[in-house]
Amino acid sequence: MSKNTEKIGEIESNLHQTMRFGTKAIHAGIEPDPSTGAIMTPIYQTSTYVQSAPGQHQGYEYARTQNPTRHVLEKNLAALENGTDAICFASGLAAMDAVIKLLKSGDEIISCNDLYGGSYRQIVRVYEKFGLKSKFVDMSDMKSLEKEITPATKLFWIETPTNPMLNLVDIEQICKLAKKHNILTCVDNTFASPYLQNPLDMGADMVLHSATKYLGGHSDVIHGCVVVKTDELSKQLHFIQNASGAVPAPQDCFLILRGIKTLHLRVHRACKNAKKIAKFLENHPKIDKIYYPGLKSHPHHELAAKQMRKFGAMLSFDLKGGSVEDAYKVLSGTKVFALAESLGGVESLIGHPASMTHASIPKAERMKVGLTDSLIRLSVGVEDIEDLIADLEQALALVEIKEVKKEKKQKIEKQADTIVAV
Ligand SMILES: Cc1ncc(COP(=O)(O)O)c(C=O)c1O
Repeated sequence: MSKNTEKIGEIESNLHQTMRFGTKAIHAGIEPDPSTGAIMTPIYQTSTYVQSAPGQHQGYEYARTQNPTRHVLEKNLAALENGTDAICFASGLAAMDAVIKLLKSGDEIISCNDLYGGSYRQIVRVYEKFGLKSKFVDMSDMKSLEKEITPATKLFWIETPTNPMLNLVDIEQICKLAKKHNILTCVDNTFASPYLQNPLDMGADMVLHSATKYLGGHSDVIHGCVVVKTDELSKQLHFIQNASGAVPAPQDCFLILRGIKTLHLRVHRACKNAKKIAKFLENHPKIDKIYYPGLKSHPHHELAAKQMRKFGAMLSFDLKGGSVEDAYKVLSGTKVFALAESLGGVESLIGHPASMTHASIPKAERMKVGLTDSLIRLSVGVEDIEDLIADLEQALALVEIKEVKKEKKQKIEKQADTIVAV
């Protein structure tokens, strides 16, 4: 790297540190294309780059190793999470796979006992046979967590808020504990997005995103990334990115870059909608339990207020009576909320974790954290709130639940009348 390039890099990085989030989302790491002035980063759809003599190239040799579209996205993601670098992958699980490859046989991962089913499946069903050990524990209890640590423990895999129970882990506390025992930390920040939470600022070594979700934001791409705090982790993960080869296509990097430009607007609006839906469901006579960190009744509400800027747009709930048949009626009965896996897009989705996103977790494990067969999960989008509430209202009307208290019914009717547009 020339002195001049180093200097430009330093100026850019200082500039990113002073930019606010929305400005970073639109500008960080992004320059007009030098050859044409195109304001949008071009999709460099190429597998290789011409060299003028062996080893004489412009920084790009082969597209698994380097791609300009991906490079711009990596700079942008690093700025959003206040990291030194980001490393992009073909999916969120490919990004996780790279993080696990930092470990070796005999090492142990401690993870939360309530996490995305695919992450659980990768740790247990892919990596156990290579000699990797794992434990799934309640990470909100630091004292019991510390007792689980052994000399083999090398990574804390942290999801917060968790999928689908919306539990929180205190990132600052857990990272302090990890540092004391020389354990790496990786926070899966998919549910929050960098707009709501920046784990690296709270002491984490790595942040992972399924960029498929809020970063992309339009349900049209599968993508993942890891943002890191140190140059050493950046070097190791870029090595794995190239050596294992699970890189994203340039077109997909372009879609994530485009999605990020409206991240702050989308997540802001989705959070507002989710808060109103949570209040509506909390008072609904047919709802038994609701899991949303923005509600005062949520056990981790205070922690959420401390470590997140808003409370997110994901929530889960259980119907009174806990019947799977009733849950299925609601799941198939919504018209605006689409029944589908995934989350974080502009459109609202409704899902059934037990048979969809978390089917790979054994039922006994699921039940320990309250993930029942009747649990319903919502990814709240950016539609008009009146339409979302009306849709849930009509879907809930399809189920008949016997003991509905009269006062609660009146309360919900009154509340539905007061919902205003955002
Ligand atoms: C919290 C979380 N982490 C990771 C993933 C995996 O991401 P991907 O589907 O992009 O591989 C998901 C997918 O739903 C998720 O919800």
